[in-house]
Amino acid sequence: MKLAVVGGGSTYTPELIDGFARLRDELPLTEIALVDPDAGRLELIAGMARRMLAHTGHPAEVVATTSVEEGVAGAQAVLFQLRVGGQAAREVDETLPLECGCVGQETTGAGGLAKALRTVPVVLDIAEKVRRHAPDAWIVDFTNPVGIVTRALLEAGHRAIGLCNVAIGFQRSFAAKLGVAPERISLGHVGLNHLTWERAVHLDGVDVLPELLDGHGEEIAQDIGLTAGLIRRLGVVPSYYLRYFYEHDLVVEEQRSKPSRAAEVAAMEAALLELYADPSVNTKPELLGKRGGAFYSEAAVALIASLLGDRGDTQVVNLRNDGTLPFLADDAVIEVPARITAAGAAALPVDPVEPLFAGLIAHVTAYETLALEAALHGGRQRVSDALLAHPLIGQAALSDDLARRLVDANRRHLPWT
Ligand code: G6P
Ligand code: MN
Repeated sequence: MKLAVVGGGSTYTPELIDGFARLRDELPLTEIALVDPDAGRLELIAGMARRMLAHTGHPAEVVATTSVEEGVAGAQAVLFQLRVGGQAAREVDETLPLECGCVGQETTGAGGLAKALRTVPVVLDIAEKVRRHAPDAWIVDFTNPVGIVTRALLEAGHRAIGLCNVAIGFQRSFAAKLGVAPERISLGHVGLNHLTWERAVHLDGVDVLPELLDGHGEEIAQDIGLTAGLIRRLGVVPSYYLRYFYEHDLVVEEQRSKPSRAAEVAAMEAALLELYADPSVNTKPELLGKRGGAFYSEAAVALIASLLGDRGDTQVVNLRNDGTLPFLADDAVIEVPARITAAGAAALPVDPVEPLFAGLIAHVTAYETLALEAALHGGRQRVSDALLAHPLIGQAALSDDLARRLVDANRRHLPWT
């Protein structure tokens, strides 16, 4: 079984390889193609990947190529984990909105829009190559902003599913708090990518969320950076991305007085690359655990194994709404538990969503619709419209100002400028 990783030169790749090695019975890979435009970095990562596989006795061959066509040919699944413009562009996403008093984050608010503008055209171009050279392959998209990128892929008719590690992260951390195996926990997870709430935590089918909040409310609040009082009041567990909404001004204040996450990650990446270059290193470095993508490999292996193996189990993914949340259009992309078979992902029914969550979901969906329009068709006015529709921006002069600054700063990554 061949799998291709686009963005294979990422410092995250050893995270994936570690998962492939540990979960080899679930996903019997014979070839892993790492595709990346940066040939030097690709060689370094491929070397590390080969050592990791050899160390665990995994038989898969690692092929490194700068050609998407060559990398994806014959693959049954293609994982997208690319970052257009690298950490330097991310730094702009995180710092430029701050100058206007808005949260600086690479997937939420104005920074997320800039990332979408840069990313959608590149991803669609790569997906066309997948369609030509591996027409039956599944595209699993981990490239952010996952909701908008997945929607772009689906609207262009690709066999794509969006993936994020937030849900699997909660499953693992709740299981640890309850002292049970993660497989026994399933989540009542609802919303959009990076805008979700856990409304139920099922242990062997029984909802234990109230007990979990009673016994571990403080810890959970700390994990996600919200107050225990707010979580008690909501009665659900929001993802840590909700902090950018519920505590927006506080986050802006904090961000103004500390280095950006992009700068932190760039430093980590430099250290990781040094480790990967060391021929004696053949296991996943601990430092990688400090990145946000923990459990990403497990989620990816599980999803691909179920798609290719027709397993019919339940996993949280990003897919077309198609009536699951009746207050959204069918073509919106939502993040909910779904049954995964060889035919793809089918959302499980979702209980009616309370206004407190539904309002924000609908609001951000409208923004995502306009963000995708802007990414596909370009133009500063469309960028400003998307910002005007965003609940964290929403003012006319601010939207125009941010649109102008974002377009200027991203000019070399925007095909329409
Ligand atoms: C989480 C999110 C990912 C995001 C990552 C950022 O894992 O689910 O979508 O890419 O955090 O992590 P980083 O270490 O780059 O800040
Ligand atoms: Mn994510």
